[in-house]
Amino acid sequence: MKRLAIFASGSGSNFEAIAEGCRSGAIVGAEVVLCVCDKAGAYVIERAKKFGVETLVFNPKEFGSKREFEGMIADRMDALGVDLVCLAGYMRIIGDELLERYGGKIINIHPALLPAFPGAHGIRDAFEYGVKVYGVTIHYVDATLDGGKIISQVAVPYEGDDIEELEAMIHKAEHKLYVETINKL
Ligand code: GRF
Repeated sequence: MKRLAIFASGSGSNFEAIAEGCRSGAIVGAEVVLCVCDKAGAYVIERAKKFGVETLVFNPKEFGSKREFEGMIADRMDALGVDLVCLAGYMRIIGDELLERYGGKIINIHPALLPAFPGAHGIRDAFEYGVKVYGVTIHYVDATLDGGKIISQVAVPYEGDDIEELEAMIHKAEHKLYVETINKL
């Protein structure tokens, strides 16, 4: 079994899609062994508990540096034998410590067709720009913001003017693409 760690800061709908994918067999031969969360009270923690997945919740302010808290995370991942790290709404840039220890094994999902609309507000930025084809990208993580090698993408055509409807469509596409991509990897 390949062992996955999922990093999230918020709701965790992608966490749930991946955990459910492992449980249902849509992702073959993998299990989620750790949920890493930098926000106490984030809903992803409830979802992890529901799936019986260990949670590592930490407050970055309680550490002297990013290297320190990333070292703590990497130590736990080493102990669990993590094979792949999936970022799913983790609102921090991955630093040197994790890149040095888990580089090449960290992937991220972004709710836009990179290299267009990087950053924290991909959906809103694309919507305000007025594009007609939105999408989702999964890529390897390196030291750049949303800039690592692309693994998979899917387009989401939308010409309406309701951003909530658009967000729902993109999240649905994310869940499907993340499960398919992890299964392939
Ligand atoms: C997703 O849109 C993901 O692409 C972005 O953050 C969001 C996380 O949503 N990086 P959720 O917490 O998985 O519901």
